[in-house]
Amino acid sequence: MDGTKSPKATLFAVSTILLILTVNGQSGCDTHRFANNIAFTQCSPLQFLGSFLHWTYNDQNGTVSVAFRHPGTSSSSWIAWGLNPGGPQMSGTQALVAYTNSSGQFQAYTSPVNGYATQLEPGNLSFGVSRISATLVNGEATIFATLELPANLITTNQVWQVGPVANGVPGIHQQTGDNMRSIGRIDFRSGQSSATGGGSGDRLKKRNTHGILNAVSWGVLMPLGAMMARYMKVFTDPTWFYLHIAFQVSGYVIGVAGWATGIKLGNDSPGTSYSTHRNLGIALFTFATLQVFALLLRPKPDNKYRFYWNVYHHTVGYTTIILSIINIFKGFDILDPADKWRWAYIGILIFLGACVLILEPLTWFIVLRRKSRAGNTVAAPTTSKYSNGVNGTTTGPHHQDA
Ligand code: HEM
Ligand SMILES: *[C@@H]1O[C@H](CO)[C@@H](O)[C@H](O)[C@H]1NC(C)=O
Ligand SMILES: *[C@@H]1O[C@H](CO)[C@@H](O)[C@H](O)[C@H]1NC(C)=O
Ligand SMILES: *[C@@H]1O[C@H](CO)[C@@H](O)[C@H](O)[C@H]1NC(C)=O
Ligand SMILES: *[C@@H]1O[C@H](CO)[C@@H](O)[C@H](O)[C@H]1NC(C)=O
Repeated sequence: MDGTKSPKATLFAVSTILLILTVNGQSGCDTHRFANNIAFTQCSPLQFLGSFLHWTYNDQNGTVSVAFRHPGTSSSSWIAWGLNPGGPQMSGTQALVAYTNSSGQFQAYTSPVNGYATQLEPGNLSFGVSRISATLVNGEATIFATLELPANLITTNQVWQVGPVANGVPGIHQQTGDNMRSIGRIDFRSGQSSATGGGSGDRLKKRNTHGILNAVSWGVLMPLGAMMARYMKVFTDPTWFYLHIAFQVSGYVIGVAGWATGIKLGNDSPGTSYSTHRNLGIALFTFATLQVFALLLRPKPDNKYRFYWNVYHHTVGYTTIILSIINIFKGFDILDPADKWRWAYIGILIFLGACVLILEPLTWFIVLRRKSRAGNTVAAPTTSKYSNGVNGTTTGPHHQDA
């Protein structure tokens, strides 16, 4: 029974991580917290380039304090956000710019963008700007400033962008995909903000497809399949095995489709880098592929290496599930869908967690009872070709996986 602690520890870890994610894993619009308790009354996700605009409009003196936030900023990129009363375009934008300068400081300044050959030189804007500053923490960049808005700029065009810094000078940004669409309208007073530029609802559709495919496969089918293997074995041998295979393989097929849409999305917008989400996705694909091949290569139940295979299969399997859930929440942060979707998924996780909480002790109870009925004798070698070589009558439930 030495091995009995590890599955419990794994489960404990899974539920703890779920809890932490539920409470803490959100950095979208509504849930983002700034340092020093700075708060803004309004926020809008800017649909392209994965950015956010937070602001508070003061009616009395016509000022607006803004924070433009761009997760996934490196020390070799610049970020910019601005207003363009002249039209929905880059040229004419009254911009706030920030990047890590040659003394290693993340520095913010204003720059009137007067054409397409700019190097974003500092200069005064057409309206007053005070208290401009910027932070770059854990790859998330934010520019803070207070703008003295003339009445005609309360509703206007907003433009934002990210690009590379070379030799301490902001360089030209990508001129494809989302970098050409990062334009929208903003109404500081009513709180309406949109990304209209190049208006490709097509891409939004692709992102949603990506999200749904991955949440269903990695986030629901695969954990369900693992639960089939763990909890149905005591009731139905070998039905559990076929169910496990069916769930895992369909999860894998849908998951690979979702993964491919993600890779495509990433390649279509080189200006955006969600490196953690992407790397986790690639790791998950690798793990899941390994699992599928390992299934074909598994030793016979009575083979002496079967034990090690089981340890391997469980470790990679549970790791994949935990990382999948983490990555799904990372995806929610990027997509920033309506909160109900995040909550729907959290609801599913709570349901699965509750099933685990009920089935885990039940399984142990059944296994231990069978064991005591068998009078602690060493059981005959298994006759099931799916089982582990050790009958559920002699060990805990974790030893029985195929
Ligand atoms: C290093 C400074 C920059 C350079 C050299 C630069 C260059 C360019 C060029 C050449 C285009 C036109 C591409 C085309 O029409 O095919 C363009 C488009 C664009 N730029 Fe920039 N840009 C810079 C900074 C910025 C900044 C600071 C912003 C936003 C605050 C921005 C936002 C845009 C947007 C939204 C477009 C697409 C719409 C349009 O063509 O006006 N750019 N940029
Ligand atoms: C504008 O009003 C707000 C709140 O009423 C205040 O916090 C801010 O300092 C004022 N700004 C200026 C420039 O007067
Ligand atoms: C870099 O930015 C900091 C903070 O704004 C500023 O004090 C410093 O002079 C800048 N260094 C250069 C080389 O521009
Ligand atoms: C920017 O405005 C300030 C005062 O508001 C002025 O002192 C400064 O010379 C201006 N800079 C440029 C480049 O016009
Ligand atoms: C498992 O143990 C039960 C006794 O509870 C026994 O009836 C059954 O044949 C055993 N199965 C295998 C595969 O050894």
